[in-house]
Amino acid sequence: MSDYDLVVRGGTVVNAAEISRCDVGVRDGRIVALGENLGPGANEIDATGRYVMPGGIDSHCHIDQQSSTGGRNAESFESGTRSAACGGTTTIICFAAQEKDESLTPIVTDYHRWAKQSCIDYTFHLIISDPTEEVINEEVPRLIDQGHRSLKIFMTYPKNRLSDAEILKVLDVAKRKQALVCVHAENHDAIMYMTEKLLKAEKNSTRYHAWCKPPLVEREACSRIIMLAELLAQPIQIFHVSCEEAAEEIRRAQRRGLKIFSETCPQYFVLTARDLDRDQREGAKFVCSPAPRSEGDQEALWDHVRIGTIGNVTSDHAPYNIDELEGKFWAGDNAPFSQIANGVPGLETRMPITFSEGVAKGRIDLQTFVALTSTNAAKLFGLYPQKGTIAVGGDADICVWDAEREVTITQDILHHDTDYTPYDGLEVTGWPAVTISRGKVVWNDGVVNCEPGWGRFIARPPYDYIAPRGILPTPFDPVTLETREEV
Ligand code: URP
Ligand code: ZN
Ligand code: ZN
Repeated sequence: MSDYDLVVRGGTVVNAAEISRCDVGVRDGRIVALGENLGPGANEIDATGRYVMPGGIDSHCHIDQQSSTGGRNAESFESGTRSAACGGTTTIICFAAQEKDESLTPIVTDYHRWAKQSCIDYTFHLIISDPTEEVINEEVPRLIDQGHRSLKIFMTYPKNRLSDAEILKVLDVAKRKQALVCVHAENHDAIMYMTEKLLKAEKNSTRYHAWCKPPLVEREACSRIIMLAELLAQPIQIFHVSCEEAAEEIRRAQRRGLKIFSETCPQYFVLTARDLDRDQREGAKFVCSPAPRSEGDQEALWDHVRIGTIGNVTSDHAPYNIDELEGKFWAGDNAPFSQIANGVPGLETRMPITFSEGVAKGRIDLQTFVALTSTNAAKLFGLYPQKGTIAVGGDADICVWDAEREVTITQDILHHDTDYTPYDGLEVTGWPAVTISRGKVVWNDGVVNCEPGWGRFIARPPYDYIAPRGILPTPFDPVTLETREEV
């Protein structure tokens, strides 16, 4: 007779808050016991010499999505979540993306149908590209009530960008309905101006992708979205912070007490603008937005991780094959940098690169790694403590980590459906040995046991972590229309 369905035995349990030596007992997909010498499990994982961590939460990834910059993602929910699981991730937050002139609800229904093939748990951010009266006042409130508690907006990309007036409408409904707005912050007009001039000067190659969007376009947009959020006293999450300038704006806001959260991504830890400086076919592999920056920016990002400006690391997995069909070269194999699909794949490499560059190189400690890759996202997006911690009562989403394992990343060891990795040849120390999704072992030392349909949608009710702090710049609250009496 076994006491548990599964016991993870003999490892070092690492949570964001504490480290302890204990076994983990699992029953019916949940953690039911933490302790020494637990009784037998029907299934046992030997974690001796390994770290037992909360499964990763990747709170920014694009799956099976039409791109904002042309092309279509080279990843189904089955392949994307399989790849995530092999990389130690047990929950993803991906997107249901509205395009201009579309209503939102049918799109969300489509994404739910496609996502039924997921191998791990998932939930959605709703991309708002056309905030009409109906979308803002009827569809978004209804969809938030159904558990889609985060919205995503773009300040750039012709197909998606919102004006400041439109952004305020989105922040307004988010505040009314207790949702979090996530932002792609780059100054659109400045990028368009630079792009036009670069193309006029016949500077078409991928290296000029970085020139059309220098750090100042990100700094300006971060500063502007922070001010717009402050006008309503509404928290926001700034996506994919790539450079020192943007992080400085966020830090300044945080020091004023504003609830501004932010993430960065592994591509900004290990790629630089020099990676774009190759022939078009190769350079396209590194075209993403914001653009890869400099080594100085990489170190600045780690500084901001250490002081808490940046709270989580996501993949921004945005996979395109190197082809002319729906991939990087959807606009033709002679396409200039401005018409190459933006994004890099990275669901599976997110945790290993962050561990290797962070923990193995001594930049952060183990607990910060757990906070960055799992716990902070769980708190920020209303999944905690069901996800993001190894605790009795929580889902048995677990990653057993081999901190010693040295791996050279190559395309053939990965499980995504994209036909390349931008990290080809990168040597990392640390790799997930075992991934467990709600008690099911989905990855075990090289053996994949993912089951399409295993993953469940997680509806997210209101939660306190993103409650506004209530300090408005005037006595008038533009959301409730109330005026506070001045004393
Ligand atoms: O280049 C990127 N990041 N592509 C994906 C869409 C986005 O901007 O997040
Ligand atoms: Zn973005
Ligand atoms: Zn993205």
